[in-house]
Amino acid sequence: MSAAERWDAKYADWDEPGTPSDFVIGHAELLSGGSTAADLAGGTGGTALWLAAQGLATTLVDVSGRALEIARVAAAERGLPLLTMQADLEAEPLPTAAELGSERGWDVVVCANFLHRPLFGTLRHLLAPGGIAFAQIATVRNLLYNERPGRPYLVDEGELPDLCGGLEQVSFEEDWFGHRHEARLAARRPA
Ligand SMILES: C[S@@+](CC[C@H](N)C(=O)[O-])C[C@H]1O[C@@H](n2cnc3c(N)ncnc32)[C@H](O)[C@@H]1O
Repeated sequence: MSAAERWDAKYADWDEPGTPSDFVIGHAELLSGGSTAADLAGGTGGTALWLAAQGLATTLVDVSGRALEIARVAAAERGLPLLTMQADLEAEPLPTAAELGSERGWDVVVCANFLHRPLFGTLRHLLAPGGIAFAQIATVRNLLYNERPGRPYLVDEGELPDLCGGLEQVSFEEDWFGHRHEARLAARRPA
């Protein structure tokens, strides 16, 4: 079964977008001055819709057509402009910003709860100069209290900043956020 089929099946019963990332919301001040955003593997668009509501021209990228459909319906209901792009972010080679719909790169790029290590390494190429990336992913410590996500979907503690090479760290936290242990990095592409 392909990733698209697997995730379409998972989202089959959903009819509402998920909740936006509290990490991104908590750093809303970093969005100022930006006009475009992308949420990579953004699922049903909780965070993408929030970014669009902040006035950013937002693109939601995901492999699941079903997830994108849920996001599009919600965007129409809320009167928010939202571009959607179905793409495999584990493809070889990884899609470029231009292939994902942005010639100059985005001012804001979010990648949350999706681990494909090479993708973090290309965030700098997906950002416009001065743009800000938000990377959020559970760590291995999360296994202490949670069976899922399983080990293949977790970063080691301290690993995330190294994965996001070529970016200037703005903030980095690794901690329990509720019942989940996560690495949360905000980092800027040098202007
Ligand atoms: C755990 S969900 C996270 C969704 C969202 N980022 C969030 O934090 O709520 C993982 C997402 O990755 C997407 N995904 C899985 N494999 C993918 C791939 N190869 N390319 C693009 N998206 C993929 C799934 O469809 C799903 O929406």
